[in-house]
Amino acid sequence: MTAPAQGTIESVLVENRVFPPPASLSATARVGSMEAYQALCAEAESDFEGFWANRAREHVQWTKPFTEVLDQSTPPFFKWFQDGELNVSANCLDKHIGTPVENKNAIIFEADDGQVSQITYRELLDRVGAFANALKAQGVQKGDRVLIYMPMTVEGIVAMQACARIGATHSVVFGGFSAKAVNERVIDAGAVLIITANFQMRGGKELPLKAIVDDALAMGGCDTVKKVLVYERTQTAWNKVEGRDLSFGEALAGQSKDCAPVPVNAEHPLFILYTSGSTGKPKGVQHASGGYILWAKMTMEWTFDLQSNDVFWCTADIGWITGHTYIAYGPLAAGATQVVFEGVPTFPNAGRFWQMIERHRVSIFYTAPTAIRSLIKAADSDDKVHPRNWDLSSLRILGSVGEPINPEAWMWYYRNIGGERCPIVDTFWQTENGGHVITPLPGATPLVPGSCTLPLPGIVAQIVDETGKELPNGTGGILVISKPWPSMIRTIWNDPERFKKAYFPEEMGGSIYLAGDGAVRDAKTGYFRITGRIDDVLNVSGHRMGTMEIESALVSKTDLVAEAAVVGRPDDMTGEAICAFVVLKRSRPTGEEAKQIAKELRDWVAKEIGPIAKPKDIRFGDNLPKTRSGKIMRRLLRSIAKGEAITQDTSTLENPAILDQLSDTH
Ligand code: PRX
Repeated sequence: MTAPAQGTIESVLVENRVFPPPASLSATARVGSMEAYQALCAEAESDFEGFWANRAREHVQWTKPFTEVLDQSTPPFFKWFQDGELNVSANCLDKHIGTPVENKNAIIFEADDGQVSQITYRELLDRVGAFANALKAQGVQKGDRVLIYMPMTVEGIVAMQACARIGATHSVVFGGFSAKAVNERVIDAGAVLIITANFQMRGGKELPLKAIVDDALAMGGCDTVKKVLVYERTQTAWNKVEGRDLSFGEALAGQSKDCAPVPVNAEHPLFILYTSGSTGKPKGVQHASGGYILWAKMTMEWTFDLQSNDVFWCTADIGWITGHTYIAYGPLAAGATQVVFEGVPTFPNAGRFWQMIERHRVSIFYTAPTAIRSLIKAADSDDKVHPRNWDLSSLRILGSVGEPINPEAWMWYYRNIGGERCPIVDTFWQTENGGHVITPLPGATPLVPGSCTLPLPGIVAQIVDETGKELPNGTGGILVISKPWPSMIRTIWNDPERFKKAYFPEEMGGSIYLAGDGAVRDAKTGYFRITGRIDDVLNVSGHRMGTMEIESALVSKTDLVAEAAVVGRPDDMTGEAICAFVVLKRSRPTGEEAKQIAKELRDWVAKEIGPIAKPKDIRFGDNLPKTRSGKIMRRLLRSIAKGEAITQDTSTLENPAILDQLSDTH
């Protein structure tokens, strides 16, 4: 663990702009004032379990009511509502039948090419029912794992909901990951079936998915997989393995749309989602059913103040946690109409998001700082894609997620997209959290650009030192959540020991959740500001990448690479950029040759992990800077990556000349 960055306190102090919630929004908001927020916090503080029991009864339909709220007998393996039973899909779909939501649009789908289709709650339920029956017909049973490798389509959401309906645990893999990544996840999860598409459409291009699944399965170790179901997104032919592969059409033929939802225990694993940690191997974050769906629905109402006539749009992909909680589950559980978008923000041009907000009269818009920054740049250089060309008056709330939002991007978003009338909810959370944990509430919280403000009621977030001792406001430290919450990670699939070690360090008592981020609280307001990861995890365009994961990929090119070290460096556009320092098995290349080998290594990493993991900079040295005991001096590498003057003691370096080599960007 490295110490959180210094200098953060000053930037909190200089940021003194405050934006109170608009009175008109507060007047109708679900949480309409700081007093209302504080009353909820006080309720949670005075009767923690009673508070969550009330929320769980209010937001979740139970087929068997729970009698126990929180089991803390074996920390950190906390259990919530554990003798209760429910079905998550029924909580998203069936419960709306017979209400005004039944015939409301659940999804407005806009395809990559701009074609729009709608699906009501009733129709979605029928689609999910038929697909759930198709899964059962292929032998999928409660507790089985199903891997989903799908484009951003209604079918992807149907696949997830259908798994939930029959109690199968899904593991969605982002469509940008490589065959190797799919192979590793199939093996770790022991998946019995894969749901994929022949191709995905992104930015006008047809990109393969099924062919990557074929490659993944051919790599071996995937004997658990019996069937592959293929959504034919395009007309293009795909390679069919007889006896194993079925098109959606074949799998769905003759299936009834009625499929009774299977009640599961509240702690039943709804999904596993792999995410990067500080070791080479991604972690299978396991989420439960009851606490998770409670959080997904409740935060739709708290954080987004969802009202019945809102049109909600979260631009994430279902391959990430944001797409799980705020596309596949939360909006449906809350009965929202949501926009689902297949494509990319820059196709056919960088006005796509603004055009879609106008076209669908979006009222709540939730996106990532990286997208905002790239669209600012596009608008600055081409007036035709400036948001002022579209009518964005339908918007009432904006959201940000995935990485710190710099105050400049915040202000642009606030002025140019929100017309200075829409609060921005800067939501801090992680794959492991299940949903928002520190965030403003739009009708209550005065906003400060760059701050995720205050924890949700019932979330006990603190800044501590390395021993777990709370630090005074104004002092940067380690962010922890010191009480369990219903939607928290339950374990790492197949690796409870790693779960304990990674998130609940013994030095802090073994039951306090370590977020992995540094943060500082404002001396006066107590507002939180996230200062970035304190472990070996990078955040590149809001995507989490482990430095060790990229290093392992580089050194697995055994014919070329002897050693590699990866660090992050700040980047104006992507937040952080990946910088790799490489020692080759042959002499150090320079000039054109260095460029060419760097390209070869980038392509290799794309093949091993996925294009998002490609290092931006690759530098070559005869060696890496190491301490006398042989540890790589990463802090030194971080300084070199940033182009900073070296202030660290380098007297122990065997060969100080390598510092010049590693500074060479060829
Ligand atoms: O570093 C924090 C950053 O993203 C990390 C979690 O990444 P992931 O599990 O992929 O989930 C992203 C979407 C929920 C965190 O440890 N992060 C996320 N949201 C914010 C943030 N950093 C600052 N501000 C945020 N609002």
